[in-house]
Amino acid sequence: MQNKTIDFQGKSALVTGGARGIGAATALALAAKGANVAVADLIMAKDTIAKITDMGRKGIAIETNVAKIDEVNKMVETAINALGHIDILVNNAGVVHRDTLLETAESTWDRVMDVILKGTFFCIQAIYPHMRERKYGKIVNVSSISGIIGGAVSKIGDIPEKTSGRSGPAYAAAKGGVLALTRWIAKDIAKDGIYVNAIAPGACETEMTRGFDYNVDALPIPRMGQPQEMAEAILFLASDISSYITGQVLNVDGGWVMS
Ligand SMILES: NC(=O)c1ccc[n+]([C@@H]2O[C@H](COP(=O)([O-])OP(=O)(O)OC[C@H]3O[C@@H](n4cnc5c(N)ncnc54)[C@H](O)[C@@H]3O)[C@@H](O)[C@H]2O)c1
Repeated sequence: MQNKTIDFQGKSALVTGGARGIGAATALALAAKGANVAVADLIMAKDTIAKITDMGRKGIAIETNVAKIDEVNKMVETAINALGHIDILVNNAGVVHRDTLLETAESTWDRVMDVILKGTFFCIQAIYPHMRERKYGKIVNVSSISGIIGGAVSKIGDIPEKTSGRSGPAYAAAKGGVLALTRWIAKDIAKDGIYVNAIAPGACETEMTRGFDYNVDALPIPRMGQPQEMAEAILFLASDISSYITGQVLNVDGGWVMS
């Protein structure tokens, strides 16, 4: 077998939640390795697309709410029409909440579940026929260590009366659900040449974590993770370097889960 490198020339990717944070870093990292990239988000990801086209790749921004099945179907159709085909899907769109058990309202539960768990499912369901027809696909789901350890604890730095910013029960359940879904779908569609894996970020410096103190000094790697570091793990799972891997979760967490 030949040595392989990470090279996405001729490949096209669809990244959800790519207007900022981990999604934007992932879209740019894919483009830097040669991919054309469709970026779906609640808002038009104009900045991300401008950087992708500056690199000489094709990029398209698609305004989508991943929690709405009609919008997801349209997103996939638009991405395929614009880029010709989609080889890679990164399910990254997400929202967090940090309510306690008693504070978590039904509306919060529904919103978090809808975006993270239902959104991930809808996107995979919508792209599957296309990938099956091409007998090729790499799907990477962005879960969280919250879905493994049951919520990641942080303090809210500048709001002293509220001492715990632990990610809430809906978030932990949705991210844990993404891992179960990753394995279910991985078993189902490996026969079609489509491989499905997940990353579980620890505390990463984005808008989602701004103002929260994750006590990262206590981690084996004592600092916050950076969006680029999440993107690099996603690149590995989206590339043919990981050609014998499916249904796995890669913790990108500075050693949080193991410790
Ligand atoms: N930052 C962290 O420490 C951390 C840790 C673990 C997991 N994650 C996960 O990583 C992913 C990216 O998070 P981030 O830190 O970059 O956060 P972020 O808030 O900076 O970015 C999230 C993006 O998703 C988009 N989005 C939200 N709801 C959407 C919807 N319904 N449809 C389409 N797009 C939507 C937002 O507009 C935003 O651009 C999320 O799934 C998050 O749960 C983040």
